[in-house]
Amino acid sequence: RKRVAVLISGRGSNMTALIEAARADGYPAEIALVVSNVPGAGGLEKAASEGIETTTVDHRGRGSRQAFEEELDRTIRAKDIDLICLAGFMRILTPWFIERWHDRILNIHPALLPSFKGLDTHARALAEGCLIHGATVHFVRSEMDAGPIIVQGAVPVMDGDDAVTLAARVLTVEHKIYPQALALVASERTSVEGMRVRTGVEGSNDFRSL
Ligand code: GAR
Repeated sequence: RKRVAVLISGRGSNMTALIEAARADGYPAEIALVVSNVPGAGGLEKAASEGIETTTVDHRGRGSRQAFEEELDRTIRAKDIDLICLAGFMRILTPWFIERWHDRILNIHPALLPSFKGLDTHARALAEGCLIHGATVHFVRSEMDAGPIIVQGAVPVMDGDDAVTLAARVLTVEHKIYPQALALVASERTSVEGMRVRTGVEGSNDFRSL
């Protein structure tokens, strides 16, 4: 089983979905560590209550972004981690860190990439009149919210939606696709060719595009 570090900044509902999925027999990854860059983030307590080791690497009060990332890297390597899942981790990582973990960092983004990179994705999808919206799990590259797509999940936009109701609908699909994407990567069934992720698993499109 691959050892996974989940990086969070907030409530950690995607982290919880990964922890729960990883408990299933035969799941190819275990959540070995949860790291928050925000002291007291809600997800830390939740992870600890699930018996997962947690730690905080505060990005504040460090000399530079690189000093923060060196500490993050040390903390993760000390636990023999194979893969990193960003789950509501609201810090941009530099090319230095991302290259050290090439094709071993996954991120979940609350939109159907490459549409709506960045923040406020639900309000922007509504403002654009989108009828379909969703979430994407992708490998991290140094360009923000870009990188080979592993799994996407779509939801309808309803007439009465606001950003809150739409976010909630997207979140339910996030909790499905993140464990599926991690399972694919952890079982070494993905290969990356440019921006395309291939699996060689027959029928995998049934769950790679929900
Ligand atoms: C999720 O909706 C995730 O997709 C989003 O933040 C939320 C975190 O919720 N991530 C980003 O916006 C990354 N830029 P969670 O802490 O409950 O998983």
